[in-house]
Amino acid sequence: MEHITYQFEYDERIPVAFIGAGGHSYRNVYPSFQYAPVDLRAVCDLDGERAATYARLFGAPRSYADHREMLERERPTAVFVVTSYTEDGRVQATDLAVDCLRAGAHVWMEKPTAASVAEIHHLQKESAAAGRFVMTGLKKIFTPAMERTKDIISSPDFGEVSSVSVRYPQNLPAYEKRRDLVAMRGFLDHIYHPGAVLHHLMGQVRGFGYQWEPASGASTASLRFASGAIGTLHLAAGSAATSPLERVEVVGQDANVVVDNSVRLTYYRRGARLGYGRSSSYVVDEDHAPLHWEPEFSLGQLYNKNLFYLGYVPEILHFCDSVLSGTPPTKGTLDDSLAIMRLFEAYQTVPAGTFVDLPHESPLQPPLPLPLPNENGAT
Ligand SMILES: NC(=O)c1ccc[n+]([C@@H]2O[C@H](COP(=O)([O-])OP(=O)(O)OC[C@H]3O[C@@H](n4cnc5c(N)ncnc54)[C@H](O)[C@@H]3O)[C@@H](O)[C@H]2O)c1
Repeated sequence: MEHITYQFEYDERIPVAFIGAGGHSYRNVYPSFQYAPVDLRAVCDLDGERAATYARLFGAPRSYADHREMLERERPTAVFVVTSYTEDGRVQATDLAVDCLRAGAHVWMEKPTAASVAEIHHLQKESAAAGRFVMTGLKKIFTPAMERTKDIISSPDFGEVSSVSVRYPQNLPAYEKRRDLVAMRGFLDHIYHPGAVLHHLMGQVRGFGYQWEPASGASTASLRFASGAIGTLHLAAGSAATSPLERVEVVGQDANVVVDNSVRLTYYRRGARLGYGRSSSYVVDEDHAPLHWEPEFSLGQLYNKNLFYLGYVPEILHFCDSVLSGTPPTKGTLDDSLAIMRLFEAYQTVPAGTFVDLPHESPLQPPLPLPLPNENGAT
């Protein structure tokens, strides 16, 4: 991703349609198309006027208020879905993705992919049956800082990864409300961010427990990964609105890496010796000194545009590469979403103060929120 091609410079562009003309897509998804090999053919929103406005603004020749009509007429190769929640807290995009797959289109969707493990399994079946893939925009694992973090912790110099800590401000409702998807909407919406980072960096969670604080809804989870590494997820509800949201630290063997505020990356490399009581300078030689990256915010560059450093353009380019090459995405996959939903269901079904193996087979597994579409697409 060193060199970015502008949309009009691509020789081949994917015919795409878009479902959803809301706030987030306006700010972050349609504008990312400036740098992606897409040909936006149509926009659909339940509010037909908004769909028409977005179509005009973002260069699509047609607009619709009914996605089935759009899929039928346009026959897009891929569909971007950025919608919201039903009144009972389900994810609108889950069923829309099924409709797109059945119309023969690959799907890129915003998180959350779904509201339960069962729904992800259903999407996996539909995706396999259609021979089309579904990718979720897990932007956190596409940020330049996180991509480099993954490279660093995978390198032999870092040593075996031993532990991780992830901080993200998010409140968790009281235990008795956790099977109510409306009460859990904020949690579902946001667990995808730290959940994606944990899964991407550390792999499967095998052991899980947490403490919960009722005034703010903050929680601290203790995690054991299949790899043997350990970690914490600090959902720091109660933080100020002015505070940076995130901090990620991964520790290896005599080395660690920290991402602060999504953009500041520091790699504390192994090998420096600072003998206790006798070292007069902390300024170690260049071979062992920490490496630090952060963007400058002076030039009109792409790297200091949030579309890039928050991962939006990179995630869309990954999807486009997959469509053009006919190879499934390797990031933002339904398996990634499955791991996040397992974590979500663990918070739903495990009371604070206990430690369980995951996947957690609770006798109180949350019921499916609503019937899934049957083979004919009806619910
Ligand atoms: N990754 C991120 O940084 C990020 C940030 C904000 C929001 N999001 C996600 O983006 C999504 C949208 O959030 P938002 O705040 O823009 O919501 P929004 O309510 O502003 O927009 C959703 C739009 O979808 C339309 N819609 C719903 N069902 C439809 C259907 N069947 N056919 C056509 N249009 C339909 C609605 O009319 C609405 O215009 C959510 O999933 C949210 O979690 C992601």
